[in-house]
Amino acid sequence: MRRKLAAGNWKMNGSIPALDMIGALKLKHPECPCDVLLCPPAPLLTHALQNTAGSPIFIGAQDCHAEEKGAFTGDHAAAMIAEIGATYVIVGHSERREGYGETDAQVAAKARAAQAAGLTAIVCIGESLQQREAEEALDVIKAQLAGSVPDGSSGETLVVAYEPIWAIGTGKIPTMDQIAEVHALMRSELQARFGDEADSIRLLYGGSVKPDNATEIFALNDVDGALVGGASLRAEDFSPIIEALARS
Ligand code: PGA
Repeated sequence: MRRKLAAGNWKMNGSIPALDMIGALKLKHPECPCDVLLCPPAPLLTHALQNTAGSPIFIGAQDCHAEEKGAFTGDHAAAMIAEIGATYVIVGHSERREGYGETDAQVAAKARAAQAAGLTAIVCIGESLQQREAEEALDVIKAQLAGSVPDGSSGETLVVAYEPIWAIGTGKIPTMDQIAEVHALMRSELQARFGDEADSIRLLYGGSVKPDNATEIFALNDVDGALVGGASLRAEDFSPIIEALARS
């Protein structure tokens, strides 16, 4: 059985006072049947970890470098993220693929570095609107999955997030059939590559997940949770999403 995951990606938002929302989540979900993860910006990770102490809420980073150390000003190594007690790292988010030109090979190298450091890598993939309209979405997903997921990945070390670029921060989401189609494809591609181990790899949907659409999305086969941006910033929004996942 895959344990469901509600993951929050704060992007470049938040502050030390904003981390108080973790206290509210702890009170609301003392024994959640699913995993809850928050990924605040790197300078807030240590404070976030202090706030989650004694709770089952996990903390993760939003990116890591593929190298162990060196002259990479502004970057951080996976081992540094693990050393402070964070357990996950997002890699290959479309904002990094688009804004920094990250390729599938670079994303795979980052995921490999994360896994080697003992972190679970959340590998993000997803098509653009143009690719969706040209009916290329499934081919794009297949290629990104093959190119961005490292060999030897397992349910412990890998989570895949399907995030159509056009759904991120726009309030638009694909149809339920489209989400189900992509998730079924991801599962079968992972099965072809990793055999039975693929059944333990969690597949998240991301892109404008909100309290009012979460229940419908979580009812779909092979949707094991969500990667949530805007709606993960406040407990009032994130908590109902966690509840919907717990009920699913
Ligand atoms: P959104 O972002 O929920 O604000 O659309 C999702 C993401 O980019 O991970």
